[in-house]
Amino acid sequence: MQNIDVLLGLQWGDEGKGKLVDILSPSYDVIARFQGGPNAGHTLIFNGKKYVLHTIPSGIFRDVIVNLIGNGVVIDPLVLVKEIKAIEAEGIEVKNRLLISKRAHLIMPSHRWLDAASEALKGKNKIGSTLKGIGPAYMDKTGRNGLRVGDIENADFQEKFNQLYQKHLQLLKFYNWSEIQESEIKDWFESIEYLKQLQLVDGEHYLNDAIKKGKKILAEGAQGTLLDIDFGTYPFVTSSNTITAGACTGLGVAPNKIGNVFGIFKAYCTRVGSGPFPTELNDELGEKIRNIGKEFGSTTGRPRRVGWLDLPALSYAIQLNGVSELILMKADVLSELETIRVCTHYHYKNHVIDYLPYDLSDGVTPIYQDLKGWQKDISHCKTKRQLPKALLKYIEFIEENVGVKVSYISVGPDREQIVKL
Ligand code: GDP
Ligand code: IMO
Ligand code: MG
Repeated sequence: MQNIDVLLGLQWGDEGKGKLVDILSPSYDVIARFQGGPNAGHTLIFNGKKYVLHTIPSGIFRDVIVNLIGNGVVIDPLVLVKEIKAIEAEGIEVKNRLLISKRAHLIMPSHRWLDAASEALKGKNKIGSTLKGIGPAYMDKTGRNGLRVGDIENADFQEKFNQLYQKHLQLLKFYNWSEIQESEIKDWFESIEYLKQLQLVDGEHYLNDAIKKGKKILAEGAQGTLLDIDFGTYPFVTSSNTITAGACTGLGVAPNKIGNVFGIFKAYCTRVGSGPFPTELNDELGEKIRNIGKEFGSTTGRPRRVGWLDLPALSYAIQLNGVSELILMKADVLSELETIRVCTHYHYKNHVIDYLPYDLSDGVTPIYQDLKGWQKDISHCKTKRQLPKALLKYIEFIEENVGVKVSYISVGPDREQIVKL
């Protein structure tokens, strides 16, 4: 039985994953995050209120649904506890419905300091990390030094922590990094005590049992395909596999359990942080789209870089993920434009190509096709019939180019602003 559907981003993150997981979650029993950590910022807006989730899966606001933080996630207990308390303050029960895999790794304060020190050393070549300690925490995981959630219940946890912390201090000396806040260690251990009261589980057993019982699971991706550690625009990427395959390793479920893959993308592109971005708009129009789309980071507040939709990149992402349904986000942001450009090919080393080359930063020039804008407010549309013809044409154009159907269009940030096709 294929009981696990996956929803993930096809661009450089911030496609609107949180909103869609919240919308789809009533059809599922379990929502599970499988990679990334508090570098993610998933925004949900309903009943006039806005919530930004960093570690907790986006099903938490729906009654009954179980939310699991999988083994592939890196958890900063300070961030997680703050998040739980903020949601509880809204009168929503969290602890009953939140499960945490014992195999998930912990982000220590010194991972954050190392992140900052490493970025500072890179100077103008910096990745533009969110500085949440993601890279250093995954480095300790793959280097087989990491601390896992399951370790916090063991008698030697403090000793293990000290060992790794001392190593980090040595590394920080190498970086000449002096901004060390010892007080954060005490706060971190307080959060660890809080974590001990939560439901720490063997996530892989829990999910595979749930599958046997016929329960439906939705795996919620973080970041986006073009930030994937293997297939993204390396080295300007995050440190985890953000693609569908990451859901298998990040949850402990076999590939043949994966069902639908929802691939989510914006009607244009954004990127926050450094790295190549062939269709970037460094002009007034880019500024305009950024302002209409409120393109400022949910985690860091940084302005997001903005550009046209890139079909070679989208096709690449669809292929890597085995996307079965597309979800088009933020169509409303382009409503004012007379003409909408879509990149269909690249000029690359005297050739015209329709795929993503190895190095996007070197001599890639986008080739565009211009489509007619719809120039109508679509934010109140509820059905396909209400959508302007030019928008439906734009969608057909994308579908024909990438070979997958669009099943939902998002026409505004609110939970209610969604059109099912
Ligand atoms: P995520 O990281 O993929 O969950 O996305 P973010 O929450 O970081 O960024 C998406 C932003 O776009 C948030 O501010 C959302 O409230 C907003 N948003 C989502 N869907 C739409 C939409 O269809 N139209 C508009 N205008 N905003 C949207
Ligand atoms: P969600 O889940 C957008 C970007 C950072 C930086 C690079 C590496 O909200 O879509 P890291 O902190 O992982 O070392 O940063 O990846 N990045 C994101 N960009 N959305 C995200 O998450 C991101 N998480 C990381 O800006 O360029
Ligand atoms: Mg985000």
